[in-house]
Amino acid sequence: MTDVASQGPAPSEADRAVLTNRQGHPVYDNQNQRTVGARGPATLENYQFLEKISHFDRERIPERVVHARGFVAYGEFEATGKWGDEPIERYTRAKLFNTPGKKTDLAIRFSTVIGGRDSSEAARDPRGFAVKFYTEDGNWDIVGNNLAVFFIRDAIKFPDVIHSLKPDPITFRQEPARIFDFMSQTPEAMHMLVNLFSPRGIPADYRHMQGFGVNTYKWVNAQGETKLVKYHWLPRQGVKSLTAADAAAIQANDLGHASKDLYEAIERGDYPQWDLYVQMMDDHEHPELDFDPLDDTKVWPENEFEPKLVGTMTLNRNISDHHNENEQSAFGTGVLVDGLDFSDDKMLVGRTFSYSDTQRYRVGPNYLQLPINSAKNATVYTNQRGGQMSYGVDLARNQNPHVNYEPSITGGLREAQYPTHDEQGPEIVGRLTRKRIPRTNDYTQAGQRYQLMEQWEKDDLVKNLVDNIGEAVREVQERMVWHFFMCDDELGQRVGEGLGITADDVRDLEPLQTQTLNDEELARAADLG
Ligand code: HEM
Repeated sequence: MTDVASQGPAPSEADRAVLTNRQGHPVYDNQNQRTVGARGPATLENYQFLEKISHFDRERIPERVVHARGFVAYGEFEATGKWGDEPIERYTRAKLFNTPGKKTDLAIRFSTVIGGRDSSEAARDPRGFAVKFYTEDGNWDIVGNNLAVFFIRDAIKFPDVIHSLKPDPITFRQEPARIFDFMSQTPEAMHMLVNLFSPRGIPADYRHMQGFGVNTYKWVNAQGETKLVKYHWLPRQGVKSLTAADAAAIQANDLGHASKDLYEAIERGDYPQWDLYVQMMDDHEHPELDFDPLDDTKVWPENEFEPKLVGTMTLNRNISDHHNENEQSAFGTGVLVDGLDFSDDKMLVGRTFSYSDTQRYRVGPNYLQLPINSAKNATVYTNQRGGQMSYGVDLARNQNPHVNYEPSITGGLREAQYPTHDEQGPEIVGRLTRKRIPRTNDYTQAGQRYQLMEQWEKDDLVKNLVDNIGEAVREVQERMVWHFFMCDDELGQRVGEGLGITADDVRDLEPLQTQTLNDEELARAADLG
């Protein structure tokens, strides 16, 4: 690994570069401000001092409102040219996938969600898994997590779920009582909670975890035909998790163990790899399924929708500056290339607004001019001008530099031709409304997930749930137990036991006003335990 000691012998005094300020003026004295006499007062025209201290005053930019702690690395993606055994162009015309062995540069940012920028990387928290592909057609970001699903299915609830998970506005402490107050009224969160409070909720580090796109996207082929897809990254290093006790021992000594692990692995040439698998469905509502394919609280059963390999990511280079390449990096779900598209997933559309909105605020309106964010393998010519920190207007050959508008016949930029079709996907007819999706089915997959766990994982999950829900008020505890009975009898029984709540205590609870139960769920609610 690189550290100060391994950088080689220091150059002689004569060989060292001279310190300057940002105007290129040599700095003759970096120890003493300019003052009137040795004991002051200081003078206001002291440019060198003011530049140094006022730059320092602005060293921090606002941290991300979520996913503040993270770590960035670089690498490449190598395509198989196929989706499983089939030629991939049958399904997508995205160029990065189309040729076997084709390589695309990428950057990745792993993160935790709730803590601030210096918080523990051993927290029980989803992990962010954001990949930026620098393709020849511009950038493509997959902004995912390690748990495959999410707490909510409509973006309008995102500020609420995050407020419940963030520190209390008065005590500034993460309070399980607040978290479960919200979650007890949010039945769609059960699947995520069963994952998050299991050992999977604390990945051992960033190299040993999966990544999932979570939301449903589309692929578009040259004929304009669309399919629904989900992305899965599987680590060749294997998946490892921590129990709460393991995590406590790690964070007693080190808040940044996962960044350290990744950085050191890359420095020693032990390059981590993930295979990218894609699940696919025809692009329609799939009434035959008991869930909605656009619902990000659900996974698609792998026996029906087999994930198929499309390529491999290798991380082989570390960043050279945390601020430039991590703090100022900007990923977003709106960043897609030709051949890849959005679905109508109600989370995805909300996310797509939110990312670039926050980045214009957090990094500035010209955040896409920074090297980490720019589409470095594509050509970029826009008519955007100005804004804070703007530089480097890229003029095309033959472009009239006076023309920063379109259309023009005097040498401005022109519109691109559509690759093939400008219309794609199913035709949609509907009225403007505010409605839950019909197939909410909030409990089945959560129960299945519990049943798939090994015994020690079940035990760990129950213990973590009891410990945390135990801090909430009795009504919240009872509602959570009711939800867990709805997921799986054994889970309801065990969490209830830990909290001193029986099926009889919760049998008479009515379903929440904000939920619609299907017939199976109604029968279950009537027959708890
Ligand atoms: C970061 C919003 C759901 C994964 C962020 C940020 C915002 C945000 C504002 C900070 C971005 C920045 O400052 O650069 C939302 C909204 C959501 C949502 C409004 C729901 C409507 C999700 C979901 C996932 C996810 C479902 C996982 C699949 C991430 C990741 C980052 C992030 C990985 C960190 C990106 C990075 O490393 O810079 N999100 N998010 N988010 N979000 Fe979300």
